[in-house]
Amino acid sequence: AADMGDDLERVLLTEEQLHARLDEMAAQIDADYAGEPLLLVGVLKGAVMVMADLARRLGGNIEMDWMAVSSYGSGTKSSGVVRILKDLDTDLTGRHVLIVEDIIDSGLTLSWLLSNLRSRGPATVEIATMLRKPEAAKVEVPVRYVGFDIPTEFVVGYGLDYAERYRNLPFVGTLAPHVYQH
Ligand code: PRP
Ligand code: MN
Ligand code: MG
Repeated sequence: AADMGDDLERVLLTEEQLHARLDEMAAQIDADYAGEPLLLVGVLKGAVMVMADLARRLGGNIEMDWMAVSSYGSGTKSSGVVRILKDLDTDLTGRHVLIVEDIIDSGLTLSWLLSNLRSRGPATVEIATMLRKPEAAKVEVPVRYVGFDIPTEFVVGYGLDYAERYRNLPFVGTLAPHVYQH
């Protein structure tokens, strides 16, 4: 297991909790799509873990594709202005699309992505996210599948980074303030 030393404050969600919830989410998704072909769209880089763990739990006709987006604007990530760094390879016309995310914080990234993908003529577009911070929402995003609602704290692991680190942790933890308070 990854050793976080003093960087970790506490474990918020264990690997077992994440996997048990993914079992439930996958069963719900399988039931909802009832064998219809489904395109999973993962948002790089944070969604890598949840995409891999969710996709392998799904039955039926599943494809996976990826987008990389970058928020920019006034220096902070939550400007709501989004630039596509890597677009999909897949034509969405008539497709059932499920966006897969690690976390919804302000909601600005997904709000933009949702309208972007909807403009490409898909049959449906829904969202699955492992984590959501309800109290941090700046815009309401209609999310079909949520793993866990969590408090507005700085969390890392299971795809989530601080300065690109800690994504590989198999659990979700809070970061000790000394790590990000310089
Ligand atoms: C993080 C996270 C979500 C987004 C959520 O990605 O993975 O994609 O921020 O924030 P929002 O709801 O406030 O828009 P980030 O931009 O850090 O890129 P990364 O996935 O490569 O870490
Ligand atoms: Mn991300
Ligand atoms: Mg990040």
